[in-house]
Amino acid sequence: MESIMVLFIIALSLIYVYFKKSYNYWSGMGVPQLSPSFPFGDMASVIFRKQNMGDKIKEIYEKMKGHRYVGLYFFSRSAFLPLDPVLIKDILSKDFQHFHDRGIYYDEKNDPLSAHLFSIAGPKWKRLRAKLTPAFSPGKLKYMFGTIVECGHQMISKLNEIAEEDGEVEIKEILARYTTDVIGSCAFGLECNCMRDQNAEFRFMGKRAFTQTVGDVMKMVIIRSFPPLARILRLGVFSGSVTSFFNRVVRETLEYREKNNISRQDFLQLLIQLRKDGQLDEEMSNDKHTIGTKLTIEEAAAQAFIFFLAGFETTSTTISFALFEMAQNQSIQERAREEVTRLFDKHEGLTYDAVMEMSYVDTILFGNIIPDGLFEIQCCSTVF
Ligand SMILES: *[C@@H]1O[C@H](CO)[C@@H](O)[C@H](O)[C@H]1NC(C)=O
Ligand SMILES: *[C@@H]1O[C@H](CO)[C@@H](O)[C@H](O)[C@H]1NC(C)=O
Repeated sequence: MESIMVLFIIALSLIYVYFKKSYNYWSGMGVPQLSPSFPFGDMASVIFRKQNMGDKIKEIYEKMKGHRYVGLYFFSRSAFLPLDPVLIKDILSKDFQHFHDRGIYYDEKNDPLSAHLFSIAGPKWKRLRAKLTPAFSPGKLKYMFGTIVECGHQMISKLNEIAEEDGEVEIKEILARYTTDVIGSCAFGLECNCMRDQNAEFRFMGKRAFTQTVGDVMKMVIIRSFPPLARILRLGVFSGSVTSFFNRVVRETLEYREKNNISRQDFLQLLIQLRKDGQLDEEMSNDKHTIGTKLTIEEAAAQAFIFFLAGFETTSTTISFALFEMAQNQSIQERAREEVTRLFDKHEGLTYDAVMEMSYVDTILFGNIIPDGLFEIQCCSTVF
């Protein structure tokens, strides 16, 4: 017992010394840095959810105004934060070839679900990105519009039910159920049934993927600070239940569709096609990275998984915030309502074209903060 304690204390001290030493990296290079602390570096407030990443970066930006860049620490790992727009633009466009790696941990061999478009880098990322880009074309979105509206009707009837009962509603949860239904249906052709069924498995797993237990935080410390150790220990990025659920769902759905020759115009169909032919018809690229390689089932599952996570959470959060802001400003709310009803009349109902014309609603949701449109597109394309 005692010797275990001693070993534990020695290990902890070694880790402490290692981290402290890491925190000299930027100052040693003459790069300004803040005051990182063990073991979270500069990110303690973010890890403990006291501050979101956007606010944290803004705070650093304000504090370091006048500098062109600042060196940060995520746990023991160093991160470079450019502050000068010119520098940022170079990184995102002119010198992009050196910066496409977003530095996100993944372990393709033991945790294939982690090797998705958001985490992978280099030629692999380039190849998958080129393959999946057609999935986000306006034509595809237009095709999915009917499903989005149908899920909306289910949400409205749920809201009516709630209004009749006690009138209090956790809007973030309702919206997460709505977007889970939409993504489940549009991307996977599955009825998730989250709006009706309080215990829907899809909703449960989606929620679990964004919840952090103490164990998850400890896992993150290792993943962020010692990626090779994380690979040896086979630490999954997401909880085991989430990983096995999505692996199973995607695998079963893909196999069912392939076996029964079922074709739908959705994200999964693109993945099926990529598994069969290695490329999509629309793809005109003859880049050596994109032709001839077919998608494996693990690769397909990982892309479907990130499409689901990125799709439902970001959307429900954005709509929640927009509704909150509108609830606080009657005049903005009325102007939005006026635009919506006017375009409903013009297009005789809720159509794709009506939504495309809603410029005021668009401004409420996405703002006008980046006047240089090109720059905005570049930021998005860096990720996807
Ligand atoms: C699958 O369906 C497509 C079109 O729906 C058809 O052209 C093809 O022959 C079918 N394949 C099999 C094996 O049934
Ligand atoms: C509501 O928003 C409008 C437009 O941005 C603004 O002029 C007005 O002051 C806001 N009202 C309140 C109560 O915040």
